[in-house]
Amino acid sequence: MNNQIVYLAGGILLLNGLLQKYAKDYIKQFFRSRAEDQDQQMDIVIDLLITCFVTILSCSYYILTQSNKDAPQQQQQPKIDESKILESIMKKRRSITPKDYNDQLIDDQDIQHILECANTAPTHGKNEPWRFIVYKRENLNQFFTFVKDWYKQNSQEVFNNEEDREKAMKQIDNKFSEIQKASHIILLCMKRYANENNIMPEWEEISAVAMSVQNIYLQTAAKGFGGYWSSMTFAKDARDSKEMRQFLNLDNDEDRVFGSFVIGKVDDLSKFTRIPGEYKKKVEFR
Ligand SMILES: Cc1cc2nc3c(=O)[nH]c(=O)nc-3n(C[C@H](O)[C@H](O)[C@H](O)COP(=O)(O)O)c2cc1C
Repeated sequence: MNNQIVYLAGGILLLNGLLQKYAKDYIKQFFRSRAEDQDQQMDIVIDLLITCFVTILSCSYYILTQSNKDAPQQQQQPKIDESKILESIMKKRRSITPKDYNDQLIDDQDIQHILECANTAPTHGKNEPWRFIVYKRENLNQFFTFVKDWYKQNSQEVFNNEEDREKAMKQIDNKFSEIQKASHIILLCMKRYANENNIMPEWEEISAVAMSVQNIYLQTAAKGFGGYWSSMTFAKDARDSKEMRQFLNLDNDEDRVFGSFVIGKVDDLSKFTRIPGEYKKKVEFR
């Protein structure tokens, strides 16, 4: 309950009691001359009159102070231009790779908040096909080991010769040691038939996932972190494999893994800038 109301009720009771105790005798004196023999009824009437008077007085005071408090505040509140805030976050958003991260970790709660925002993306039919698997830095090796083991087991099918294999494995090792600097990686997945009663064309579901990734990008920038969408092309055979889907609890062959969102802390986000190409060249008004 509002504290003010509790104080007010206490005040009413106290004032009421005080008036009944000290003011009653004076009021009685005043009336006694007119109704000498009706002492008891007079007591009750006077008590009631005092209670009504105190209640009306207190309520008026409360209403007056409340309305005075609200009025200037409403006037003083500056109007927030949300469109400008959004524009500034959009312009601040950049793809920032692990070489620019410092070693600090991001709180899991921030990652959860980012993904809560990702979940608000538009989605045809409200199918919400995005799925996210988050790896914290301390567990990243589990994912890397899975990918490397996959290549070991499938090298015959994937590589034409030993030289190609060595080159690819070296690139994977380099990429993983870079990504080790990330605070978290978020594997970006699509559940193709998230709502089996409402099947949409694949491109619409892929687009919905991409829109959720844009929300991740924007919230990452708003929090001042660095991050980027890594397609994981360097490990694309493993990324697109049935085994990867199983590893990430995706049970349908048409479910997809679109790489990962790599995220980490940066010292100063404002130093990363990119001026996009002229928007007017991509727009036609009719
Ligand atoms: C679907 C998609 C996949 C991407 N994959 C990669 C990637 O694998 N590696 C990378 O460095 N950047 C990747 N990016 C980020 C782009 O390189 C980046 O958006 C582009 O350079 C423009 O820079 P900006 O995002 O800072 O504006 C990807 C972006 C998108 C939309």
